[in-house]
Amino acid sequence: MAAFANRDHRLNRHEIDRALLLVNIRQLGTLSAGRASGPRRRTELGDLGIIERGAVLCVSGKIVSVGKTKDALRDPWVRKNRKKIVEIDCAGKVVLPGFVDSHTHPVFVSPRLVDFEKRIAGATYEQIAAAGGGIRSSVEGVRKAGKAQLAERVLAALQEISSHGTTTVEAKSGYGLSLAAELKSLEAIRTAAAKWPGTVVPTLLGAHVVPQEFQDKPQEYVALVCEHMIPQAAKRKLAQFVDVFCDTGAFGEEDSVKIFAAARTNGLQVRAHISQLTRTPLKRLLTFSPASLDHLDHLDDGDISFLARSNTVDHLDHLDDGDISFLARSNTVATLVPGANYFLGLRKYPPARKLIDAGAAVALATDYNPGSSPTASMPFVLSLACTQMKMSPAEAISAATINGAWALRLQERKGSIEPGKDADLAVFDVADYREIAYWLTSDRCSHTVLNGQLLRNGAD
Ligand code: NIG
Ligand code: FE
Repeated sequence: MAAFANRDHRLNRHEIDRALLLVNIRQLGTLSAGRASGPRRRTELGDLGIIERGAVLCVSGKIVSVGKTKDALRDPWVRKNRKKIVEIDCAGKVVLPGFVDSHTHPVFVSPRLVDFEKRIAGATYEQIAAAGGGIRSSVEGVRKAGKAQLAERVLAALQEISSHGTTTVEAKSGYGLSLAAELKSLEAIRTAAAKWPGTVVPTLLGAHVVPQEFQDKPQEYVALVCEHMIPQAAKRKLAQFVDVFCDTGAFGEEDSVKIFAAARTNGLQVRAHISQLTRTPLKRLLTFSPASLDHLDHLDDGDISFLARSNTVDHLDHLDDGDISFLARSNTVATLVPGANYFLGLRKYPPARKLIDAGAAVALATDYNPGSSPTASMPFVLSLACTQMKMSPAEAISAATINGAWALRLQERKGSIEPGKDADLAVFDVADYREIAYWLTSDRCSHTVLNGQLLRNGAD
């Protein structure tokens, strides 16, 4: 570890106002790169890069120094400016990088309580959807809502999410399912993101399900997504990713690949909900070279197979050994969302252990949404990862921070506590990092620092 503030750092008055020093941190989990050069795999997931009695200095929204408290307090620059720096004594506490929640659906109006009761009475997710519940039943509310109302709803969700220690959120549209309502949903995400100090990555999920009015002409809906939603979202810089729900009752492989290709040709990144309800062979989907894809006549098969590659594939309840070894050999992150399994009352969880042991890059996210995972809490997801998927607490933390950052291709800025990265931190009122996943549903996150802005949470 380099000397604490070994830098020629001259601050103007404004910067000093925003300097933040956390000291006496019992365990500072830096998640610093060590020998890892990509997303964490296998034993790299267990290495949190812990500094005991640690300290972190943040200036102007960036981390500038990381080290031991004794070095921080001896540092001439810190001594000179100490009265002007906001200092937090983290004695007895654990500090981690803010969680990167790389999969959420926050643009909806109401909880789905009828679905909830039907499921308790024995109906499955697919049966509820077929009977008019499910994703389609959230659409009317979003179509009718004004943009400001949706933005308020998204902001409230972001605030709740950050109170649990999350500082970066991927946020999908997907309950509008018309050109206007999908763009309105993305605008609501943008408005909310501007009022929230953390970082939001917007995703167009126009291909969530085929809406009622296109029931008998699903190809026309796919064309609407590819030819209008994706180009307009890209042109107006409303989305960074395009997502597709590739599963029974949603979109098939060929349509998914068309949507992937349209995303790539419009300069957007690609991700997918895959194998949540039924298996889709991953290699076939992600290296697919269909005989013909509309509107992409200038691309050859090699281009298509490149275009189809996804940065992250999410859910992954139904994988075979071939899928697992394909993922282990790829840079596609396997994002697991065990909150959905929990809330849907499933006994079976995604095969996290097999994925990790084979060498796949596993991330964890909440999948915050009204149908399958109404939780804003990454600590709860960590708890599920440990108890239901047999990940160790350290593996779960790596999956929820640095690997989430990789899933969003934000690894240069997010996911670890290292000089030069964004000042995104979560402070927990626990003596040992393992307690974050251990204290089931109790909220131990006392402070969240989002791009250098300090929020005190209820637990403090
Ligand atoms: O990730 N699987 C598709 N989408 C969501 C569920 C959305 C909903 O039921 O409203 C999911 O689980
Ligand atoms: Fe989802």
